[in-house]
Amino acid sequence: AAVRKVEFLTGAVSMETLPERTLPEAMFVGRSNVGKSSLVNMVLARKFLAHTSKRPGKTQQFNYFLVNDDAQAAPAIKTNKRALRRRELGHSAEQAQAQRAATKALPASPPFYIVDSPGVGYAKVSRPVQDSWKQFMRDFLTSRESLRLLFHLVDGRHGPLADDEELSQIVAALSRSGQFMAEYVIVLTKMDKTSKGRAKPRVVQSTRDLLEKNGLQGVPIVSTSSETRLGRDDMWRILSRAIKS
Ligand code: GTP
Ligand code: MG
Repeated sequence: AAVRKVEFLTGAVSMETLPERTLPEAMFVGRSNVGKSSLVNMVLARKFLAHTSKRPGKTQQFNYFLVNDDAQAAPAIKTNKRALRRRELGHSAEQAQAQRAATKALPASPPFYIVDSPGVGYAKVSRPVQDSWKQFMRDFLTSRESLRLLFHLVDGRHGPLADDEELSQIVAALSRSGQFMAEYVIVLTKMDKTSKGRAKPRVVQSTRDLLEKNGLQGVPIVSTSSETRLGRDDMWRILSRAIKS
């Protein structure tokens, strides 16, 4: 039976610092504060794995999470690591226990990486740092062969903004020139805040329009909420398919 677990592996800041071992990868990208880290936690059924914040600009590296790997170090080391990480995060033993229990809910799959990334377009992060992230993102999208899936998160409360347009244009251009081969999926976030009236169809339509404008018809749009866990099954269906192919 598959071992169902997940652990933080490393935070990369350049192509050189990516993990050596290659596995299929699914990356989460999008504007600052859109809910990338929260969705990583929701998908992986861990409350405190990826660090989240009310304030934009929280995630500062390309964080690698190793999912469902059964070739692991000895249990003693794992326990120490866990205690260390717990101290780092200031978690109580109870919180850690809750997290372990939640992890058991993780679907079985072959091992793969989930990559959380810094938000695009956040003014308070210095220009040189933003530029370096952008460059890294571009390098990554064009040359990371093990990238199978790109989840582009869009805030479901208002739909795509200028930064989202830019990102989807980059993906479209790289796809056309054959430099981007991964599956591209739009994920609407915070849909628990979008339940009223016509907001949802309008947001889905404006997302469709943007995709069509960029020649990206047929790209899936998934509605999610990290609060209610809406879309978790959809995310896993897409993940399972992409990491097998
Ligand atoms: P950066 O790391 O700064 O780029 O942000 P991020 O995209 O990782 O966002 P993060 O997950 O840290 O969430 C930002 C804020 O949005 C936090 O206050 C979250 O609690 C909140 N949030 C995230 N997802 C949801 C959701 O589905 N519903 C609601 N209501 N709030 C959410
Ligand atoms: Mg984050």
